[in-house]
Amino acid sequence: MDAATQAAEAARLREEIRQHDYRYYVLDSPIIGDSEYDRLFRRLVELEAEHPELRTPDSPTQRVGVSPVSEFAKHPHLAPMLSLDNAFGEEELRAFDERVRRLLETPGPIAYFVELKFDGASISLTYEDGVLVRGTTRGDGAVGEDVTANVSTVRGIPLRTHAPIKGTVEVRGEVLMLKAVFAKLNEERSARGEQVFVNPRNASAGGLRQLDSRLTAERKLSFFAYGLGYGQIGEATTQSATLRTLRDLGFSVRAEATVCEGMEAVLARVAEIGAMRADLPFGIDGVVIKVDDFGLQRQLGSTARGPRWATAYKFPAEQAFTRLNGVLWQVGRTGTVTPVADLDPVFVGGAQVSRATLHNTPEMRRKDVRIGDVVIVQRAGDVIPEVLGPVLEQRPADAIAPIEPSECPECGTALARKEGEVALRCPNRNCPAQISAKLRHFASRNAMDIDGLGEKLIDRFLELGHLTDLPSVFRLHERRDELVALDRMGEQSVQNLLDAIESVKRRSLDRFVYGLGIRLVGERTAADLAAEFGSLEALRHAHFERLKEVPEVGPRVASEIEQFFEDEANRAMIDELLILGVAPTEAAGPQSERFAGLTFVFTGKLERWSREEAEAYVRTQGGKAAGTVSKATSLVVAGPGAGSKLDKASQLGIEVISEDDFFARYVEADV
Ligand code: IVH
Repeated sequence: MDAATQAAEAARLREEIRQHDYRYYVLDSPIIGDSEYDRLFRRLVELEAEHPELRTPDSPTQRVGVSPVSEFAKHPHLAPMLSLDNAFGEEELRAFDERVRRLLETPGPIAYFVELKFDGASISLTYEDGVLVRGTTRGDGAVGEDVTANVSTVRGIPLRTHAPIKGTVEVRGEVLMLKAVFAKLNEERSARGEQVFVNPRNASAGGLRQLDSRLTAERKLSFFAYGLGYGQIGEATTQSATLRTLRDLGFSVRAEATVCEGMEAVLARVAEIGAMRADLPFGIDGVVIKVDDFGLQRQLGSTARGPRWATAYKFPAEQAFTRLNGVLWQVGRTGTVTPVADLDPVFVGGAQVSRATLHNTPEMRRKDVRIGDVVIVQRAGDVIPEVLGPVLEQRPADAIAPIEPSECPECGTALARKEGEVALRCPNRNCPAQISAKLRHFASRNAMDIDGLGEKLIDRFLELGHLTDLPSVFRLHERRDELVALDRMGEQSVQNLLDAIESVKRRSLDRFVYGLGIRLVGERTAADLAAEFGSLEALRHAHFERLKEVPEVGPRVASEIEQFFEDEANRAMIDELLILGVAPTEAAGPQSERFAGLTFVFTGKLERWSREEAEAYVRTQGGKAAGTVSKATSLVVAGPGAGSKLDKASQLGIEVISEDDFFARYVEADV
């Protein structure tokens, strides 16, 4: 690349970054994701490092943010609000630690304070003798906007500190919106037909910049303190002690922050925080690692952009922008037809995403998503990726609204929508897409967990007619030779598959019930049902009123369960599974009336199972199993070679039965 091209690239990057800064900080409406922004910024830093002559005084690398907008009074910060350098990955964190130790000339481990990186809007709070006198946004880092009236509505920000403090102090922290508040506000806005918030960060940043503070109050914002910008409180000489003091003064401070001795401990803590990310009640976009000791912080100092004593470890962004190329209509296992976005592949939430749900037609229309739009995609934790909405500013002139199909894209049956429901349905229960989805769900990891029976094989077997419904899985062994003859199958893999199928026949009842794919019955409900009814027999014959007695099962769920088990085809399907040897094992607890209050003694040689297995079975059914015969014994089950225990039983007048009788009366009666 020649010098002119490089200069042009630097100029283009400066302008692009300036535009994005303005959209992000001033308009609260970014049009690119964090990682894309970071990429642009890094490229500019890199160019300027290689060619210092390209570095202009107004380059975005030379300052922190953008100028504040005019509606609010401007106010200078007593100390600049700096930004943090980012570290991506373990290597960059180690490099940060090495630089810190090199600058401090310390070979040993450094004590770091590891904090959550809150994903909200930063705020500086000025207190005079313990009284809140001003709240200021970050602005360009040197001058912010005075939003005092607005911050006064935020919980977690004390209007007066709980203990007196002297002089002027600036407390720094982040204003954010809890995930639950965000969901509730969006639900309400949607019900009123208002534009929904794209994410909690925009909702909180926008909330802080309302001209009417009553509107800020309605957003129910929260605040967490992360440090001191100016002044001193108490005797604290470390970051960790400062946060403790702030908490005592009435500021909300998160307890997840911990002191870690050395980089290994930091890395372990970063991983722990990553694992808790999805369960936190608010969004974080990373972890902030700070040298704990203020003396060492002073020695390290700061650059124009940020302190040398701290860095931000960024998690993969959970939202990204990408192009919507089309909408596919996917048929689910219960026949629900869902719009799915076909996207330009984008890296989000730590994975490559090219499909994301649009939930249902009314939701898609409400968001006004059109084919050709740039859309915001979210992938957070284990939740399936979803399209949050379009970027209206980038809508191409030829973007077109997706059309809901009138016929099933898989089987051509006319689609229907029940009165009052949002979901579109394919009423044909023989629709191949439905059967495929049912089988995939049944075999999936959290259901029956049939090793080797994945999506590809299911679809191949469906096409060849080896699979037709759930029971057909347990008849696959009859087609062993045909399977072995298939391309890329072979003797061993067929054997492994058949073994895996055989081994799942006695999966626990909750997995089996979940695997049936009853509408509205997820893993939790399936577990509750298994615990409540104890056996498939009891569950499948339970009526609506009885089902409703199960904690957490409401009328809608109870009705779905009842309908499922009353359905002729489903009943035949379950009977067939049972005949094929599927025998879900029953969960712990008093499961079976027949065993209640009974104590069994097994003696002699048993043919069908070992004595231990038989005893375990009795216990799982709610009965008792003992090793010796006594007055408390209800029944003795005797096989060949039984001795003294039989004598004892006849002395005490206790009934003795054979193993076959036991099976007929207590085991097979279940089926
Ligand atoms: S310390 C000089 N700690 O991240 C140190 N910042 O780029 C300055 N942030 O906009 C910040 N959580 O608002 C610090 N625990 C935390 C933070 C945090 C979130 C934000 C901050 C700033 C950005 C830093």
